[in-house]
Amino acid sequence: MNTVKTVRELRAAVAAARAEGKHISLVPTMGNLHAGHAALVEKAAQRSDFVVASIFVNPLQFGANEDLDKYPRTLVDDQQKLVKAGCNLLFTPSVEEMYPNGMNGQTRVSVLGVSEGLCGASRPGHFDGVATVVSKLFNIVQPDLAIFGQKDYQQLAVIRTLVNDLNMPIQIIGEPTVRSADGLALSSRNGYLTDEQRSAASVLYKSLQEIAAGLKAGEHDRAQLIARAQSQHAAAGFSPDYLEIRDASSLRPATEQDRQLVILVAAFIGNTRLIDNLLVDLDKPA
Ligand code: PAF
Repeated sequence: MNTVKTVRELRAAVAAARAEGKHISLVPTMGNLHAGHAALVEKAAQRSDFVVASIFVNPLQFGANEDLDKYPRTLVDDQQKLVKAGCNLLFTPSVEEMYPNGMNGQTRVSVLGVSEGLCGASRPGHFDGVATVVSKLFNIVQPDLAIFGQKDYQQLAVIRTLVNDLNMPIQIIGEPTVRSADGLALSSRNGYLTDEQRSAASVLYKSLQEIAAGLKAGEHDRAQLIARAQSQHAAAGFSPDYLEIRDASSLRPATEQDRQLVILVAAFIGNTRLIDNLLVDLDKPA
């Protein structure tokens, strides 16, 4: 696996692969890779002949009081994991390479609708930062397909909308969330948790499963399902950000008529904000 830092080197390497008739995939990441990222790269290697991964901690998607400075940077370890998972080329640009005119001089991409509410409400500007950097990566690499984790469910919806609205000829694949044995979704931010917080954190997924079971059992009082889960979160030491049941494709608040739902949660434990979600298909038997 080659590692390149500039757009020029990246384009030359991808052009050479394309000239050999290879089908190109892209797995964008911010590094500090775990088994969830490895699963994305493995899927990319199954679905294409040449896998490009990027590691770029994108300052444009972090708010002023967020964890940009402390976000873990673990390049050597990441490179080993990428080789093992089947990556062919790693792109690790600097901030100057990605934003040569500075962040304030950078053209922004804003996706309407699905980026509003949920994380879009709690993290103003976050999805503009994501949509901008992902658009740039798509234009730099010009992959045939790109793979993202479903753990960032709203992000995946934003990227699907972006590609559709801007007619980008890129297939977007969402991969299921990889979880620890106790159900906690793998996330680079889990590394911020103390041992006590880490064991408490499994409550998030358990509560999503309980809400899903309630919905499947035909419970009409959805506010009650949410309230019960929120008190479980509070008992485990979480402060709420949001916990909502939405239509799985539009991300509109779910109505009684919607059958494909997603339950989305964001909550703080100490200073760490964790997110998770669970798809619920009311047409499938429990
Ligand atoms: O999900 C992430 O790691 C990031 O938001 C992404 C898609 C790599 C854009 O910076």
